[in-house]
Amino acid sequence: MASVEGSERDPGFDWEGLRALAVEAMGHAYAPYSDYQVGAAARVDDGRTVVGCNVENAAYGVALCAECGLVSQLHLTGGGRLTHFVCVNRDGEVIMPCGRCRQLLWENGGASLLCWTVSGIKGMDEVLPDAFGPDDLA
Ligand code: THU
Repeated sequence: MASVEGSERDPGFDWEGLRALAVEAMGHAYAPYSDYQVGAAARVDDGRTVVGCNVENAAYGVALCAECGLVSQLHLTGGGRLTHFVCVNRDGEVIMPCGRCRQLLWENGGASLLCWTVSGIKGMDEVLPDAFGPDDLA
């Protein structure tokens, strides 16, 4: 399989393995309103992996993105920093995290978090440039 564009930023990291975990998580999505299932997976700096799926609601606006579940699992299982992230649609295609979820990723991974985007592997500082974050409150 051809390597993912930008994967030289962390040679040897198993991006396809991480995507497979996101696809598996996507299979648990509850998305009866949009019919748009999403799965997300991330590596944590201690080697754990965390995953999430979107969970919608009859009150459409309170839908939980896949990243919400992932970040909750991060904290439930010991915290730490996200180092690698990918999210997928129901066809297993890489999609971009929504704007709100980029903010969640920034909080829990910061500038150095590597994200598999629709245009290859990028740092979060490219996915969410000039981000507002914890440093702004210091
Ligand atoms: N969705 C996510 O789970 N993550 C994203 O980053 C993009 C959007 C979900 C929310 C909603 O359940 C569905 O995709 C359609 O917007």
